[in-house]
Amino acid sequence: MTNNKQAFPEGFLWGGATAANQLEGAYSEGGKGLSVADVMPGGKKRFEILSSPSFDWQIHADKYNYPNHHGIDHYHRFKEDIALFAKMGFKCYRLSIAWARIFPKGDEKEPNEAGLSFYEAVLDECIKHGIEPVVTISHYEMPLHLVTEYGGWKNRQLIDFYEHYAKTILTRFHKKVKYWMTFNEINSSFHFPALSQGLAPTNGANEPQHVFQALHHQFVASSKAVKIAHTLDPELQVGCMIIYATTYAYDANPINQLATLKQNQQFNFYCADVQAQGEYPSFAKQLWAEKGVKLAIEPGDLELLKEHPVDYIGFSYYMSAVINETATEDDSVTGNLLGGVRNPFLKASEWGWQIDPVGLRIALNELYDHYKKPLFIVENGLGAIDQVDGNFYVEDDYRIDYLRGHVEAMRNAISDGVDLIGYTPWGCIDLVSASTGEMAKRYGFIYVDLDDDGQGSGNRYAKKSFYWYQKVIQTNGADLT
Ligand code: BG6
Repeated sequence: MTNNKQAFPEGFLWGGATAANQLEGAYSEGGKGLSVADVMPGGKKRFEILSSPSFDWQIHADKYNYPNHHGIDHYHRFKEDIALFAKMGFKCYRLSIAWARIFPKGDEKEPNEAGLSFYEAVLDECIKHGIEPVVTISHYEMPLHLVTEYGGWKNRQLIDFYEHYAKTILTRFHKKVKYWMTFNEINSSFHFPALSQGLAPTNGANEPQHVFQALHHQFVASSKAVKIAHTLDPELQVGCMIIYATTYAYDANPINQLATLKQNQQFNFYCADVQAQGEYPSFAKQLWAEKGVKLAIEPGDLELLKEHPVDYIGFSYYMSAVINETATEDDSVTGNLLGGVRNPFLKASEWGWQIDPVGLRIALNELYDHYKKPLFIVENGLGAIDQVDGNFYVEDDYRIDYLRGHVEAMRNAISDGVDLIGYTPWGCIDLVSASTGEMAKRYGFIYVDLDDDGQGSGNRYAKKSFYWYQKVIQTNGADLT
């Protein structure tokens, strides 16, 4: 094991990450249109409801609760939140722009100036505090109209709408924002295409043809965004963003090894291969054949992908996975949109996600060996139930332990030779969870006094991890005690 305390390079981007739909609230203010996130009910049954054949992309306020509608009211309190990030010493802050604030329906010609002004104020606030903004162009919040009228990303017309949106925000903000990402967790669609592709069972979620075709459209759209960004300023850095889950075979049985290889190829590498290397991987044709997919690729698409790959690999890492094709008993576990079987060597979070810092070191090595492009961990963290004391203080040693293990893994991977440029733990301030739409699942360094029903003052309180992370940043990762 390496233990090089000086491993983090100067200028390393320590920060935190959020997404508009999970913290802003104000879902119908400032001219914003509805997004897919606005029709997703809160609670542990969220994915079950979205996967049901009767899911209709409508709000049913009589039946369900919608915590994303109020979020943590960051829309009105962003100055206070960014000041707290600055107090922690953030060098960067990853946020997303809600597409439906800029183009309420998604297919308009003219943007909504109120939406642009809102993000201008947010970005200026970051810059005022010396925090480098890192912007995700689309994070699980495409305009709902693009789903109900156009059928989601399986429709090629979405490329034009996304291009227009990306061009609008890149043109407006390129002097304020250097680091961009085109789609959050683009490979999430292999397990749950409702979030990033706008596909539910009623409009194609269960048909690989639609999911793969939608991905092709997203790849083309992503390359168009890269092209626009580099035309505006060749110094802009545009990344892809994937979920990476280090995946182990359960044992040395070649059947499990092969299944693991296949899982890695499709889940961990397929999307980033196209976005970072500019071409479909060698295994793609076989994968399409196995799934019965006949991809419609238009003239010029492949050239565009090749000419405009991303500059860096952004990824989320929460857990690892284990594949056991030969299991006789069901030992399955849940995870960040993908499952697998239980790993007897690891502990799991209260939501069953298996905690594996060494898996992060492996991930960093695998990704860097594969792409030789800078890596940026843009999500990582522990979702947990926090208990406040009488002063709203949370002693979240479990979160500190989780993060410490992962920062050590980063340090070791840097010593291994990996080019890692930054780290933005997820939900740096408590927000609504994506998979279960809950406030109860908290990731933050900052506690927000709100429950699943939206009850509470909404006030913000620093947790113990706030001060721990402040010291980590101050010492550039040398002091993790
Ligand atoms: C990632 C997403 O999958 O994980 C975030 O990009 C999400 O939007 C995060 O919130 C954690 O997942 P969850 O379901 O615990 O909120």
